[in-house]
Amino acid sequence: MLDLAAGGGRHARLAQGRGYRVTAVDLDISAASAIPGIEAIAHDLESGAPWPFTDASFEGIIVTNYLWRPLMPSLPGLLAPGGALLYETFARGHERFGKPSNPAFLLRPGELLECVRGRLRVVAYEELEIAEPRPAKVQRIAAVAE
Ligand SMILES: C[S@@+](CC[C@H](N)C(=O)[O-])C[C@H]1O[C@@H](n2cnc3c(N)ncnc32)[C@H](O)[C@@H]1O
Repeated sequence: MLDLAAGGGRHARLAQGRGYRVTAVDLDISAASAIPGIEAIAHDLESGAPWPFTDASFEGIIVTNYLWRPLMPSLPGLLAPGGALLYETFARGHERFGKPSNPAFLLRPGELLECVRGRLRVVAYEELEIAEPRPAKVQRIAAVAE
C-alpha cells in the first residue's frame, strides 16, 4: 500500500493495522518514520524526480488532501492488478470554506474521474460538501486496476 503525501501517517497506520505492507512518501517523514513497520521515504513529489522505489506494484494507493496534477497520470500504472486507488482532496467550491483556495490545489468538476478514465474501473465517486471533520468541498474516488 502506498500512501502518497502521507503527512502524519494516519492512513498508513490504518492500512498497516489491516495487514498491508505500507510505504509512506512525503517531503517530511518525521511522523511516518516513527510508525513501526512502515517504510517511510522522504521525497519531493513535485520535483519531477523518478519515483523513489523501483519495480513498484502496489495493492493500493491512498492520496488525501494533496494535489499535484503532474503526478496523477502515473498513479494507475503503479497499481497491481486488482489494486485500488483511493483519492480524496479538495475541489472547486472549497474556497468559501477557507484554504486551500488556490485553483492549483482544487480539483475541477469531474477531474478524478478524468484521471482514471479508460485505465481503472470506478467503484465509487463523489463530489460533495462534507461537514466533518470540518466543512469542505471534496471529490473522492475508489477505482480498481483490472
Ligand atoms: C494536508 S497534508 C495531508 C496529509 C495526509 N495525506 C492526510 O490527509 O492526513 C499534505 C501533505 O503533503 C505533503 N507535501 C506537500 N508538498 C509535498 C511535496 N512536494 N512532496 C511530498 N510531499 C509533499 C506535506 O508535507 C503534507 O504532509
